[in-house]
Formats: sequence, structure tokens, C-alpha cells
Amino acid sequence: MPIEDKIKELMEMRQKARLGGGEKRIESQHQKGKYTARERIEMLLDEGSFEEFDMFVSHRTVDFGLDKKHYLSDGVVTGYGTIDGRLVYVFSQDFTVFGGSLSEMYAQKICKVMDKAMKIGAPLIGINDSGGARIQEGVKSLGGYADIFQRNIMASGVVPQISAIFGPCAGGAVYSPALTDFTIMTKGTSYMFVTGPKVVKTVTGETVTEEELGGASIHSSKSGVSHFAVDDEQEGILLIRKLLSYMPQNNLEDPPISVCDDPIDRLDDMLNEIIPENPNKPYDVKDVIFSIVDYNEFVEVQRNYAPNIIIGFAKFNGIPVGIVANQPSYLAGVLDINASRKAARFVRFCDSFNIPVVTLVDVPGFLPGTAQEYGGIILHGAKLLFAYGEATVPKITIILRKAYGGAYDVMSSKHLRGDINYAWPGAEIAVMGPRGAIEVLHAKELKEIEDDAEKAKFINQKENEYKQKFANPYVAAKYGYIDDVIEPRNSRFRIIRALQMLATKKDQNPPKKHSNIPL
Ligand code: HXC
Repeated sequence: MPIEDKIKELMEMRQKARLGGGEKRIESQHQKGKYTARERIEMLLDEGSFEEFDMFVSHRTVDFGLDKKHYLSDGVVTGYGTIDGRLVYVFSQDFTVFGGSLSEMYAQKICKVMDKAMKIGAPLIGINDSGGARIQEGVKSLGGYADIFQRNIMASGVVPQISAIFGPCAGGAVYSPALTDFTIMTKGTSYMFVTGPKVVKTVTGETVTEEELGGASIHSSKSGVSHFAVDDEQEGILLIRKLLSYMPQNNLEDPPISVCDDPIDRLDDMLNEIIPENPNKPYDVKDVIFSIVDYNEFVEVQRNYAPNIIIGFAKFNGIPVGIVANQPSYLAGVLDINASRKAARFVRFCDSFNIPVVTLVDVPGFLPGTAQEYGGIILHGAKLLFAYGEATVPKITIILRKAYGGAYDVMSSKHLRGDINYAWPGAEIAVMGPRGAIEVLHAKELKEIEDDAEKAKFINQKENEYKQKFANPYVAAKYGYIDDVIEPRNSRFRIIRALQMLATKKDQNPPKKHSNIPL
């Protein structure tokens, strides 16, 4: 065959592969408000940067008549390209081919890009839209999943892994996204569950829809499985690109520093006024975050899950950081099970990828009660403690107002190797709040006072004494637990200076196989 004909044949095969399951199924995908696997990759990567692998792969199954049904690429598109000029590896499941279901060869294609991502040291992005294990392939498909899981585990903490869920993701298939660093779900068109509504009905008798059981809003508010719920795929894809701008390519590199012309010494007088006179009054800590970071830009992670703690990415003079902040406007910023888990995982992500952590503290303590104790707040709270104590990245902490009890220790205190610990002048650092303290310290005297007015007067007087003694940052500063008491409006400048000073920080944990974080 002359070369021209061979090239023509190649082009025809490529064209065939690009059509996936065919025009009709592409049309049906579009009608559901979804893009195809290849369209998603086009949107995600820098224009013209995609290089595809394994376009001509096909399955090897002969049962159930599959020997007569072959689609080039076999239901998943894989390869590499760039995002803002930086290398990434990608796989994108093609629902138009056997419902995006995973076969042995399909799994091998995904494993190939995962191995490359690890070897070369570049992020891995997986776009999920699949009916799960290809039923006709039986255990080969299950084995394929486990091969992927193993690679997710090996890649964890080595290269960033981001999962987009743009369609179904059910059964054991959910565990690959769960093993990655961030999961993004589209509202209305995606779902994740271990067992679907029909099985739920049979086993538990509950009647639920797919959306109620595992839609984006459930997983981004109730379960915390998804870090982001987006309105559509375009928003999800832009978010992936944005998230990567805060991350290094791998654990041996530092995150990328960008040029910044937001002045480093910009003062914001609003910050001097933001803390209400009444210590029980809330304010929105996000106003503090927006005020101090570059261009007021903050990418919040898990916005609707455990909103009593805020986590997310921002930059200070172009330096990417992870921010953790107690949120006084939700449950007074108390630490509970979900907040502890949420922040712990985030701190560990930042530490894995050399991203400094800035912590803003205003915490009245851990949430009391049987629900929390029975749920294991001791173990979950310990996760956050563990995460901060283990982290070796630069750690900068500002106590804005309350830092009470164990929560003072946990929130990146000096004692957990906090590098720079500042407090605002109104900070209150104590074992507990004034009221609780008086009731413990003066229990006997209080019992003896019968007259209510007398009692109130006594409490008031003792509270004032207590506040004078402890409701300030200077006791902690006296012992060097606080490096300096700073003017609130100057916080941005002080954080940037600290980050610059800490840029070459080296710290280590003792050699070990791995730690035993209380899971
Ligand atoms: C083979 C599958 C398939 C699968 C869908 N298809 N899922 N083929 N294996 N798992 C095929 C369909 O037969 C159909 O082929 C085409 O894909 C499109 O599917 P539809 O059902 O027409 O699409 P839709 O109505 O949108 O429904 C999508 C769906 C449904 C909700 C995903 O297809 C579905 O319930 N599929 C089965 C899901 C499932 O139970 N998977 C196993 C989960 S357990 P034609 O040729 O007719 O167009 C699992 C274990 C993993 O995954 C364990 C890992 C450890």
C-alpha cells in the first residue's frame, strides 16, 4: 500500500476513534447537558497542547457478543498536555462507549498515564463519567479498578490528583476519586454512591433519588466527599485550572510564585474595627481573609461543609498558601468532628505539597455534648492536632480573638512548631471562657450566695478580674508563645514578611515508615 493510502487509513482510524460511541450517542450526551470526553479535555488544556495515548486500544472480551462490538479508545481518552504552560496528565471517561464502563484495557490506559505522572512528576486529572465496572468483563474489570486504586495511593502526596465527576460514578468506582486530593461535582448531572437507589430500597427500605443519595449538593454539604459543587462543566474545568495555580508539580517542588502588584504594605483600617466589642458577637472571618490576601482572591474549599471552619487557597505577594480560619459567624467558630476532619485533611494536603499554612484563630473550644463524644470528637480533634504538629511547611498563625482551651493548642500554636505566632490586641488566650472559669473556680462561694442579685454581682466582679488577667494576648506574649502583638490593619504586611523570612525553612520529622494518625 502506498504511503499516502497508509496515512489516509491512519486519518480515518483517528477520525473513527474521535467519534467514540458515534454521533447518536454524542448527541444524547449533549442533550443531557454534558460534554464528551474529548470536548472536556479540549476545554481543560491549553489550546493544541493535548497529546493522546492509546487511541487504538480496544477491549479483549469475546463474551456477550462483545467480539462484534469494538470502539477505538475503548471508552476512555488519555494523554498529556499543559495548563498555563505546565505539564499535566489526564484521563477522561467516555460515556458514549459502553456507558463509559471500565474494562481491563481501559484500566490499563488509565494506569499508563498514572505511572507517567508519577515518574515525570506532574499532576493527574481524572474526569469521571461512567457506569462503573464493565459488566461483561467481570473480575478483569474489578482488577482494573484495584490497579488504579493502588496507583492513586502511591501517587498520594507525590503529585496532586484532582477528580472531576461529570456524570455517574457508582459502586467501588467512587474510591478512586475518594483517594485523590480534590473532587469537583457538577450540580444536577453527577452523582456518587457506593450503592444506588434500587439497592438502598431493597436493603434498607429507604426511597431516595440519585440526587438525594449522592448528588453534588449532598456530597458538598452533608458528607464532605466532594470539595466543590459547580453549576456546570465549564465552571468545573476553570476551577481545576485555578486550583493547579496554587500547587507545585510534585512534592519535590515549591508551589509557583506569581508576579503580584497588589501592594504588600496595603493597610486596611476596617480590620481594626472588625472585632465587635461584645466577645459573643460574631463577624465574618472571610472579610478578614479577603482583606489581607492578594487581590482579595480566595478559593474556598468545601464551602458548604462544616462552615464553622474555613479552608482554601490564596496568595500573599504571589506566594500560594493554604488558609485555615475559624468562622465565628457559624456555631461561634467551635471545633467539632466535621470541622476537625475538614481542616486536618487540608493541612495535610498543604504540607504534602510544600504550601505554607496561614491560620486565623477565633475559637471558643471544642463542641460539647453526647453527639460529639459518641461520634469520636476525641479522635477527630486529634486528627487536626496531628496534622498541624506533623506539618513541616511554614506555619503562620494569628489569633484574632478567642483561643480557648485545647483549641488554642490545636490551632497551629507555637507548641506545635508554629513558626510565627501573632495576636491582635483584643486576643483572649485562656483555658476557658470567663463564665465557665468562674463557675469552676468559685463553685463553693457561688453555692453559699443565696440572693440572685448578690450572685450576679459576684460573678460580674470575678469575670472582670479574670478578663483582666487572661483576656489579653500579653500573658502568652510574656512567655514567648506569641511572637508579637500586631495591629490588625497591618496583618497582610506582617504575614508577607514572615512568609519571605520562612521561604528557606527546613524542618523534619523523625525517620519512620509512616505515622499512625488517629483515623
Ligand atoms: C457495561 C454498561 C454499563 C456497565 C452502562 N452500560 N453501564 N455496559 N457495563 N456497567 C451501557 C448500557 O448498556 C448502554 O448501552 C450504555 O452503556 C448507556 O447506558 P444507559 O443505561 O442507556 O444510560 P443511562 O440511562 O444514562 O444510565 C446510565 C447508568 C446505567 C445509570 C450508569 O447505565 C446503569 O445503571 N448502569 C449500570 C451501573 C452499574 O450497576 N454498574 C456496576 C456498578 S458496580 P447501549 O448499547 O444500550 O447504549 C461497580 C463495581 C466497581 O462498578 C468495583 C470496583 C472495586
